[in-house]
Amino acid sequence: MKNIKSSKILIIDFGSQYTQLIARRVRELNVYCEIYAWDVAAEKIREFNAQAIILSGGPESVHADNAPTLNPIVLELDVPVLGICYGMQLLAQHYGGAVDSSDKKEFGYASVELPGPSHLFEQVYPNKSQLDVWMSHGDKVIEMPADFECTAITSTSPFAAMQHKSKPIYALQFHPEVEHTIDGRDILSQFVHHISDCEQLWKTDNIIDTHVVEIHEKVGSDTVLLGLSGGVDSSVVAALMHKAIGKQLVCVFVDTGLLRYQEGDQVMATMADKMDIHVIRVNARQRFYDALAGVDDPEAKRKIIGEIFIRVFEEEANKLEQVKWLAQGTIYPDVIESAGSDTGKAHVIKSHHNVGGLPDDLALELIEPLRDLFKDEVRKLGVELGLAPEMVYRHPFPGPGLGVRILGEVKEQYADILARADHIFIEELRRHNLYDKTSQAFAVFLPVKSVGVVGDARRYEYVIALRAVETIDFMTARWAHLPHDFIGLVSSRIINEIDQVSRVVYDVSSKPPATIEWE
Ligand code: XMP
Repeated sequence: MKNIKSSKILIIDFGSQYTQLIARRVRELNVYCEIYAWDVAAEKIREFNAQAIILSGGPESVHADNAPTLNPIVLELDVPVLGICYGMQLLAQHYGGAVDSSDKKEFGYASVELPGPSHLFEQVYPNKSQLDVWMSHGDKVIEMPADFECTAITSTSPFAAMQHKSKPIYALQFHPEVEHTIDGRDILSQFVHHISDCEQLWKTDNIIDTHVVEIHEKVGSDTVLLGLSGGVDSSVVAALMHKAIGKQLVCVFVDTGLLRYQEGDQVMATMADKMDIHVIRVNARQRFYDALAGVDDPEAKRKIIGEIFIRVFEEEANKLEQVKWLAQGTIYPDVIESAGSDTGKAHVIKSHHNVGGLPDDLALELIEPLRDLFKDEVRKLGVELGLAPEMVYRHPFPGPGLGVRILGEVKEQYADILARADHIFIEELRRHNLYDKTSQAFAVFLPVKSVGVVGDARRYEYVIALRAVETIDFMTARWAHLPHDFIGLVSSRIINEIDQVSRVVYDVSSKPPATIEWE
């Protein structure tokens, strides 16, 4: 079997919000790639041994003090180079062109004209000589470097793309990786498959086969422990490890009492019964409720849930004999975010510290089989490995679970009410084909009582809030404009089916200023 990483592309990150998107697009073209920060050591770039290099965009101006710079090694390696946005400006500057910094940013759709044939646009031109593209830049090239020729123009950018006259060096002012650039995929495919001559080895079935062999080689006949959370990543790790080592994999599933409706039973039904994976289910519900009694501060709750989780997991691990390895569902975006940069100049953003972050003092060796995969790749693997698509494509669920969706103090009774209400909401979203149109939807328990009336009797019961948002990156989000009739139906079902709820409200706050979760 050929090494699936033998044909690969290096992406140098200059801080663009789209850098990971470039990487995902390259992977979708079935070619492996990795992202390095712009200030990574030259030696690492050389060692990576890329078949081609892509320079990402970035938020800075090339003229700014401390602006990210182009490491000359990139051009010395004599491999094809594609500069996107900031990457184009760096190339123009390097080769002696002029870049103009203007305060006026161009952001949004633009129409680009292709004046003639170019190797990079071969899959597009001459069928099309005008392209709808996505722009997002402040700087622009105003004078071509001597060795370059212009390959695209817009009404505001005289040089919207350029190429070297004799070397395979290309540059685009616009973003081919963004969906709004209609022909972006063809342009990237031309660069990746034809100009760089990369082989299409990065495919789901090859990825699985390779990982199975690697896991096998790594752990031999040892026993591997995995904390199963019910989430996508740990479930895919379980399925993959099980395929590789069968019963040498032991999973511990901690029921925190803060999971989705009947989630524990579902995990057992799919993983243990259907897939025949060895899963130890630990009922720790009471322990979590006891520890959370009287605590109403959200961060304190998060901390307690995280700590108890680790303790319970550790106790179970200590009962097992001869475990050598701990498997974790770390994925590539986690690796990039914590990798940092070589000079400390590149900006590093930390992600949420998650529950399920496991103890470092278990004295087990780590195995992280999803380390080089993006979330969409993990999902594809999951489906291929036999997990249900509804599970694999589920909305995200926070580590502390219902613990941060019950406002204030957590109680078993509240968790039961909330899990049922949430289940009704999700069930109806699916039934009405709205689930995939929202990015995250859930119910929230409000520990306040409100008056209601059933027949002749008055009720004095709790309030449930429904939250549904649309978002791409979860950093900003807009509240989902679900049909009023639909919200009405969910409200009736919740109030009719759950005696302890007398009122349902819908959250119409966007992020910012509100957050997605209520705590
Ligand atoms: P916010 O509420 O910050 O949520 O707008 C953004 C995304 O992060 C999830 N979230 C969490 N995930 N542990 C997690 O694993 C947490 O403590 C946590 N808090 C929020 C939230 O569900 C949303 O997807």
